[in-house]
Amino acid sequence: MVRTIGVVSGKGGVGKTTVAVNLAYALRNYGQKVTLVDCNLSTPHMAYYIGTSDYKYTLNDVLLGKVDIISALHNFDGIRHIPASLNLKDIIGIDPIKLKKHLKPLEVPSKVDFIILDSAPGLGREALAVLDAADELLFVTTPFSPMLNDVIRCRDVLREIKGDKTLNMVLNMVMGEKHELHYKTIADVVNIPIIGQISYDKSVLHSLVSKSPVVAYKPKSFASIGFMELAATLTNKEFKVPMRFRLHKMLNKVKNSILPSSFSLPTSPDEIKEDISQGN
Ligand SMILES: Nc1ncnc2c1ncn2[C@@H]1O[C@H](COP(=O)(O)OP(=O)(O)O)[C@@H](O)[C@H]1O
Ligand SMILES: [Mg+2]
Repeated sequence: MVRTIGVVSGKGGVGKTTVAVNLAYALRNYGQKVTLVDCNLSTPHMAYYIGTSDYKYTLNDVLLGKVDIISALHNFDGIRHIPASLNLKDIIGIDPIKLKKHLKPLEVPSKVDFIILDSAPGLGREALAVLDAADELLFVTTPFSPMLNDVIRCRDVLREIKGDKTLNMVLNMVMGEKHELHYKTIADVVNIPIIGQISYDKSVLHSLVSKSPVVAYKPKSFASIGFMELAATLTNKEFKVPMRFRLHKMLNKVKNSILPSSFSLPTSPDEIKEDISQGN
């Protein structure tokens, strides 16, 4: 069965494109056939993250009815991908809401196991098209209450329009420090399972400059370990977390329990819900 996963968020800059691209590479490392689609038509970034922009046709051409989606497939590093046009004028006249229909010819089980859709943030037409087209949604958020509020809004809209999708969440840019909300509390507040946690890791920023996903650029970095764990969870595979990563997490825990905090963070789900509703 082909699984179409939409990588979505309420807010921009939380790491959707980073997660979409690295998840694709991590799944490929497990032998999965992956097609990656840049569905962020107004601010496409995927080309910068994978380091290629030499495209004949893009998703824009497909949505405009100029070519079929198979013609817009490009192969890169063992991953098939469909770029969005980097040319702003190519967005004129596009109706992204037909995305689901256009993706259908890609769903050939002998060619693909996972179709990963990198979304625009929020609840605009582009994002709604991804919410509609995907069977599973992976919400990306950072561990702070304003971002959770955005996830909750997206979740509620989604439940309203399409109640039957699989919803999961991944926490990104996690530092394991006291100013962050704990993952168990987040799962409780948002009421969506957290299936991955990606560390805040400068290797991700370095990989962006090198135009290569961190999973390929620095496979042993903490962020890459998080992406491999996430891909393993999605494919029901075993992933042995390296000892140095487990030690790092343990040390953080000890440090947090010893050092005094200079601020007070809401800790119970009810406190956080109240915090969110007050717009703090
Ligand atoms: N785990 C991480 N550690 C450090 N920097 C990250 C991490 N994830 C993303 N970033 C950086 O954050 C910025 C926004 O990420 P991006 O994936 O473009 O977000 P979005 O697609 O949600 O707008 C980029 O500069 C990216 O390199
Ligand atoms: Mg993006």
